[in-house]
Amino acid sequence: MKITLLNMYAMMKKNGKTLLLFQLIYRAFGALIVLPMANLIIRFAIYLSPYQVVTNRAMVDFIMSYTTLPLLFLILLIVSMFMVFEFIALSILYHYSYHNVEIGLMDLIKLTIVKTGRKVKRYHLLLLIPSALFLLFVHLFHIGPIASTFNIPDFVLDQLQIYRNLFIIAIVVMVMLFLLFIESLYTLPILTTNDHKLKDALKHQWHLQKGGARFKRMGEFFIINVVLNVILYGFYFLLIAIVALIVQIVRGQALVLGSVLTILYVLYTVVAALATLVLIPVNVAWITAQYEHISKDEGIKLPRPTKKAYRTIKVNERFVKPVIATIVIAVLALNFGTVIGAVREDRVPLMALNQPKVIAHRGSSLGAPENTLIAFQNALDENANAVEFDVHVTRDGVPVVIHDFTLGRTTNVSGNPLVRETDYAQIRDLDAGSWFDPAFAGEHVPTLEETILLIENQATLYLELKVHDDDLNDYVINLLTEHDLIDNTVIMSFNQSTLRDLKRLDPDIETLLLVSTFFGDIQPLLNLEYVDHYGIEVSFLLRNQGYIDRIQQAGKYVHVWTVNDAERIERATELGVDGIITDDPVLARETIYSTSTRSLYANLLRRLFSDTP
Ligand code: G3P
Ligand code: CA
Repeated sequence: MKITLLNMYAMMKKNGKTLLLFQLIYRAFGALIVLPMANLIIRFAIYLSPYQVVTNRAMVDFIMSYTTLPLLFLILLIVSMFMVFEFIALSILYHYSYHNVEIGLMDLIKLTIVKTGRKVKRYHLLLLIPSALFLLFVHLFHIGPIASTFNIPDFVLDQLQIYRNLFIIAIVVMVMLFLLFIESLYTLPILTTNDHKLKDALKHQWHLQKGGARFKRMGEFFIINVVLNVILYGFYFLLIAIVALIVQIVRGQALVLGSVLTILYVLYTVVAALATLVLIPVNVAWITAQYEHISKDEGIKLPRPTKKAYRTIKVNERFVKPVIATIVIAVLALNFGTVIGAVREDRVPLMALNQPKVIAHRGSSLGAPENTLIAFQNALDENANAVEFDVHVTRDGVPVVIHDFTLGRTTNVSGNPLVRETDYAQIRDLDAGSWFDPAFAGEHVPTLEETILLIENQATLYLELKVHDDDLNDYVINLLTEHDLIDNTVIMSFNQSTLRDLKRLDPDIETLLLVSTFFGDIQPLLNLEYVDHYGIEVSFLLRNQGYIDRIQQAGKYVHVWTVNDAERIERATELGVDGIITDDPVLARETIYSTSTRSLYANLLRRLFSDTP
């Protein structure tokens, strides 16, 4: 083991610069070409399917459909070819290093392209098997522990219940694949360094695994990967601690848990990117070192690499420019499409990857007087994705932000006059904060313009019109257009005619129909072409969970209101709603993002970072 480790180190060091450059270029190619291509193929599969979005309940049907399966197979083929290229490149590089021969980046790429072409021609898809197994088990080792910290979504558990036998079969298949992985460990270095026929390569492979060698290899594979993963997870927790510290200093203790849980996946992506940069190169170095070392012990002569080998490869200059131009155009086209798609969509088409938006109801109204500038500012500080507020009109025609038709409950007015029968000058002088807590004395009833100027593009505006009035509709559309906020606003109403009229005024404005309850079928509501979103009262929605799927399959969004307890926020999240309207954005964020994290892990983070016991 010690000799192997020393050899691995020497092999990585000898052509270290080439190794690093190759890894960076290879990963960039993966991120800019292979990944967007896979994304595009999945979107095409959704386009061919009967689904507008693939909800959790529809996931298995979608995957098993005759249009999706060949496209998933295509993705597998592209990814497999991509990783075969890496394996062959690394095997060549380490083979050169082992024999103390230097190789530069361009020569390595040229040699790998030529070798990959030859090997694929000779062994076809068989070449994919050992590299796919290698990738699977190296990453399984890495992804396994982190995946175990995330809760298995309900829809997967449901499917596992239905296909219990399939689960057992899957475990048996994995064990068999692991044995095959160990048996085919040396196949790639053998095929890369020799021009063996497959039969001879397998004979050679079995010869190298004779005696207890295969068990030794299993042990070494285990030790190397445990050590690497301990280092990676150490780095992961260090990142979490650094982020928590920064959030605590900049935004305060109360926001630490929600922020850490929200970006847990992003931090994990950083570590995963680092892992792919380290795990495969180290594991290929391990197996190549073993292969070279055992071959030497056994007196098997491997062809020595020579500088001449790649110098004889002639690149036809005529093809260089067109190939580079094609790659540049492909990168731009693929990424332009992906970025535009991501920016324009509120919801990813695969619902399992979707997290509901947090919409602060009347601002952050649990800790501040509702529908005041302080409640809106708190919602922004608490990272709400959107802020909801209610609009009425004063006697002299000024749109103001207040929930009730009357002023009595939320201001210090004497009596309980109607908003529409009071002039703005009188309303402006009222105290809209003391009723909630004397600490908020001096807050006033904001105008609609003041409100949208405060929130602007920091969060989406969920603007509820409490009155149906043509002049108000005109005013709202003009105001939003003037401030370029049409794309950042959803107009809400219980009144269908209000939404219909607004859509006529500006077809680009998004509309949300509020529903507290109804009798009969939901279909007529879904047929309203001027409605984009539905906001359904929480108890009614939880009693009619099927509506979520119906609304989303109609290509529309479903929000639930007003949810202030962790249990129902968690339930709504699991059911896959698009937005949760709440008085408590901090609780909502903590609950939504810990719903997908195993409770043990979420509790640990809660103990570490929450300011409430
Ligand atoms: O967000 C939906 C909700 O705002 C509708 O009810 O009475 O709070 O305006 P209400
Ligand atoms: Ca409202």
